[in-house]
Amino acid sequence: MDNNERRLMVECDNLVKIYKTAESEVVALQGLDLEVEEGELMAIIGNSGSGKSTLLNMLGGLDRPSAGKLHINGEDILKYDDKQLREYMKSTVGFVWQNNARNLIPYLTVTQNIELPMILAGNTANKRERVLELLDAVAMTHRKKSKLNQLSGGEQQRVAIAIALANNPKLLLADEPTGSVDAKTTSMIMDVFNNLKDQFKVTIVIVTHDTQLAKSVDRVVAIRDGRTSSEFLIKKSYAQQLAEMGDQILEQAISGKIDTHEELVVVDKYGRLQLPKDTIETLRISGKTNLKVEMDGDRIILTVPSGEDLKNFNKKAAAQAN
Ligand SMILES: Nc1ncnc2c1ncn2[C@@H]1O[C@H](COP(=O)(O)OP(=O)(O)OP(=O)(O)O)[C@@H](O)[C@H]1O
Ligand SMILES: [Mg+2]
Repeated sequence: MDNNERRLMVECDNLVKIYKTAESEVVALQGLDLEVEEGELMAIIGNSGSGKSTLLNMLGGLDRPSAGKLHINGEDILKYDDKQLREYMKSTVGFVWQNNARNLIPYLTVTQNIELPMILAGNTANKRERVLELLDAVAMTHRKKSKLNQLSGGEQQRVAIAIALANNPKLLLADEPTGSVDAKTTSMIMDVFNNLKDQFKVTIVIVTHDTQLAKSVDRVVAIRDGRTSSEFLIKKSYAQQLAEMGDQILEQAISGKIDTHEELVVVDKYGRLQLPKDTIETLRISGKTNLKVEMDGDRIILTVPSGEDLKNFNKKAAAQAN
């Protein structure tokens, strides 16, 4: 790979996850494609039940997809045996859950909580320095001796982030990290994520419903019904644009009611494209409808063909076959 080429931390290709229970099958992911560049801070938004946590669990090695490709940091983690997977979860990936009970041990101090994953992984050489560095990064130095149950929700969440980073992972996954805190605390936690990205060069993927939070990241990918449906690239100018847009656009993206001109439809590497649900419903083109594809400069025009169009097409095809 040449040095100028972007390096991918996450590569999901056609990821499928089917949960089977005695009575039913739930298709939680149906062919999801996602790429995350090394060093990116990105958010995944989507309605409840759209498959966000399912996706994050796959990335974190907590669950396996039913089909598809999943490479993290250039490695096929689906080929890992149990030992490699444990090693992956200990050292490559860090997880922050919405529910603090999963992150923290209430009767230990902040410092002890951050030390624990290092001790479990045998990374004790520079334990003290690392704890101080992490406390500083999440702005919790002043509470290092407090017990977890003496902290506010937002403070606990910042400790949870430090714990997730204890073993210096390359990828940090956060499922609704601001789910139970107010707007001011959300903004503080987002500042922490932005600092971590710069300071530790860690790649960060955050799952959220929160449109406020989605504005403080480099890129937002909306998932709908277990597929990547639209993508907002928040490059420098775009970040500004997004800041000016107000919440409506992101809210519409989540609910799938977005104006198509504001939405980037994703074309995957096979040339497949997913049209917004509203467009499909409005034009009544679900199922096996053929669309006419024309080029006009750099515009691609998709038209629902008329009866005449179809007749001409069939005539042409017949002539070519002869
Ligand atoms: N262990 C499981 N067994 C069966 N079905 C499941 C399981 N986990 C998730 N599902 C189903 O898969 C779909 C996607 O769930 P998922 O938890 O990924 O959604 P989500 O986008 O994280 O939602 P939320 O925003 O509410 O957290 C849902 O229909 C859910 O009911
Ligand atoms: Mg979820």
